[in-house]
Amino acid sequence: MIDQSILVLDEGTTSTRAMLFAQDGTLRGVEQADLVQHYPRSGWVEHDAGEIWEKTLACAQAMVEQAGGAARIAAIGITNQRETVVAWDKATGEPLSRAIVWQDRRTADFCAKLKEQGHEKMVRERTGLLLDPYFSGTKMRWLLDNDEAVAKAAEGGRLALGTVESWLVWKLTGGKTHITDASNASRTLLMALDASGWDAELCDLLGVPMAALPQITDSAGELAHTHADMFGGRIPICGMAGDQQAATIGQGCLSPGQTKATYGTGAFVLGNAGTQLPWSDNRLLGTVLYQIGGERHYAVEGAVFVAGSLVKYLRDTLGLIESAAETEELARSVPDNGGVVVVPALSGLGAPHWRPEARGIISGLGFDTGRAHIARAALEAMAHQTYDLASAFAADGCEWTGLRIDGGMAANDWMAQDIADLLDLPVTRPDFVETTALGAAMLAAVGCGMKADLQEAAETMIGSGQLFEPQMEDGTRRQRLARWDEAIAKI
Ligand code: G3P
Repeated sequence: MIDQSILVLDEGTTSTRAMLFAQDGTLRGVEQADLVQHYPRSGWVEHDAGEIWEKTLACAQAMVEQAGGAARIAAIGITNQRETVVAWDKATGEPLSRAIVWQDRRTADFCAKLKEQGHEKMVRERTGLLLDPYFSGTKMRWLLDNDEAVAKAAEGGRLALGTVESWLVWKLTGGKTHITDASNASRTLLMALDASGWDAELCDLLGVPMAALPQITDSAGELAHTHADMFGGRIPICGMAGDQQAATIGQGCLSPGQTKATYGTGAFVLGNAGTQLPWSDNRLLGTVLYQIGGERHYAVEGAVFVAGSLVKYLRDTLGLIESAAETEELARSVPDNGGVVVVPALSGLGAPHWRPEARGIISGLGFDTGRAHIARAALEAMAHQTYDLASAFAADGCEWTGLRIDGGMAANDWMAQDIADLLDLPVTRPDFVETTALGAAMLAAVGCGMKADLQEAAETMIGSGQLFEPQMEDGTRRQRLARWDEAIAKI
């Protein structure tokens, strides 16, 4: 029997990657390419969908070659930045506009109008989401209203809309398959959490033509096959999930109550809610964690828009640091934040505040403030944002007993300890922090029959981790929390 690998395509906000996994979850190879971020106006964030496809394909081809050809790949798993909208022409397979990225705030007025009209209650009850520009539906409507090529394609019945996994599957199958999995579909505002298809009333409210939308599928199973020309042989696509849902699976949060936080471009906390429809009275989101065999498992989510992107901003825009890793050294070089608080609302505030108009602040500056204090306060902001989510979960009756963390930023030991300290909870970090890709590999392994179910995939593919125990004195903690609340109140 030949030794086959799982190929994961992990299409994130700032980079796209292809990764090869062995059946025991060991990483065999990675190929990565950065993506250009387009900021055409304040609050607007765009990607070139053509670039996403070309770079993803090149990375995937490099991994297939490393594996020894298509026959050596048992299945493909896809995981992706969620909510980002791609519009393409079904006839040519070409993008019709730039993709509107999840961080983009251009539909804030439209969302405000829908709220004024009193639609939010119905939208929340049906989708688990809020009327915020973050989600895909209003972005789709914006393209139809403002992009001539998109409007014309819709008139001619040639318009395809989808989130990034949908776009990648379309291209990988040579235009044969237009699908999205239920976890991604649950981020659009167009699907009821407990319905298998698109919701006609929601599509009508947002003005999105159902004919342009993909078919909603399971997150694991034989979902599609790549076109034979793509990798020198057909490969089944057997796993698909939004990146935060995939990370929840990759962290082994398979039982109700188990919770993870991923610190990537943004920070996303998801708590497994089992098969019961999730509900929050504290402005957390209800979302599909995964769907297998038609059965849905749900999660409660707190979405914070700025995490790693703050460090990138300090490095690339302000020039305050030379590398992301330097923040750890700087944070350790001072005894405290010197009174500085950074509220990183660079693209509005997400959960639990939901204020798209908010913008970031750095408060408490004095002549004695150095860049180390600002860098430390920037890292501390991650623990504070997580604490606000922990409070919302607790108010909903889901108090955390511990937290599993991951994502690029979680490699920072100082930050991991600070999160444990501020939450006053044990925090675990897996030795292999690429849990998003691992979760997609687990789904694909289940989808192609390599593993019987996610439980078996978790037992055989997830490795060990490191524990961070809280150590902070209560007085220090309380002072930090009070200063953060004061700073939040200022914006
Ligand atoms: O909802 C947005 C999220 O999917 C983006 O993930 O990994 O790019 O921060 P990431």
